[in-house]
Amino acid sequence: MKNIIIDCDPGIDDALALMLALRSPEINIIGITVVCGNVPALLGAQNTLKILQLMKRTDIPVYIGAERPLIRPLVTAQDTHGADGLGESGYPDVADIKIHEHASDFIIRCLRHYRQLSIIALGPLTNLALALKKEPEAFGNLHQLITMGGSFRSHGNSSPVAEFNYWVDPHSAKYVYEQLHRPVIMVGLDVTRKIVLTPDLLELIRHFDNDLSRFIISITKFYVNFHWKQERILGCVINDPLAVAVCIAPDLCSGFDSYVTVETEGLCMGQTIVDSGGFWKYPSNAHVLTQTKAGVFMSMFLERLFPKETELIRKFIKGGTPT
Ligand code: RIB
Ligand code: CA
Repeated sequence: MKNIIIDCDPGIDDALALMLALRSPEINIIGITVVCGNVPALLGAQNTLKILQLMKRTDIPVYIGAERPLIRPLVTAQDTHGADGLGESGYPDVADIKIHEHASDFIIRCLRHYRQLSIIALGPLTNLALALKKEPEAFGNLHQLITMGGSFRSHGNSSPVAEFNYWVDPHSAKYVYEQLHRPVIMVGLDVTRKIVLTPDLLELIRHFDNDLSRFIISITKFYVNFHWKQERILGCVINDPLAVAVCIAPDLCSGFDSYVTVETEGLCMGQTIVDSGGFWKYPSNAHVLTQTKAGVFMSMFLERLFPKETELIRKFIKGGTPT
């Protein structure tokens, strides 16, 4: 069982990723840290509590981190995820958020306590950068950092070349890739764009007719409309759950080792520069994922959330049955 921290900015796909992680016996979630990104950090923390309540896991501690990126002002994605960050689904707040320790301090404390801690980062890397700046030596115990972010050959979603998490805070992304000195597993748009909750799959989920299915349908409506308006996509791309799946089953994706850094200024701000040709002759600092078994992922995702519906799920998902 892997001890992990999930750093996130819920966010609709973050919510789905947390649900998958909470239904995966391979991982033990030590805590959830929240970063500004899709929504302001306080709202992200509120949304995290809503998801933990739905999943009956309010025992898991939640920590609020950065309220703004390292240098840039915060630009949220509430046009994509709704004003409440959960598709304007209107779920009531769970409880007052008690701020007792900054997320970056919690990350450092856990790195010092757990020998082989993994971190799954589903939002901008601000909390990771703050922790790394504060106590770089604590990261010697880090087993792996899996980050949903960036892109190699895929076009951006926040500019022609930049993916949202690294576009929001390019300085933190650059700092983490260049200073972590541990391999970063980059789960970028090249693979996450292949993970689509299609109208058929959403209709299948709707028919499951339980608390989790009703939650998923209610938070994805807004997101589906955004995808049609923005990119004429039917359904919605769910980026973050694939990063959780990679932690559980690394062979779901394949890629290559490369030196990666992030542009922090100008037209290409937030772009991941992947030196796949080895021009700069720097040692590789990342494993860049480029291929994924989307059907196998979707089966895993749905079967773990709806274990009683496995037969139906396997009937509807092509190429999904895990080998
Ligand atoms: O670019 C997609 C990423 O940015 C996802 O993590 C989404 O939740 C937003 O944080
Ligand atoms: Ca996210």
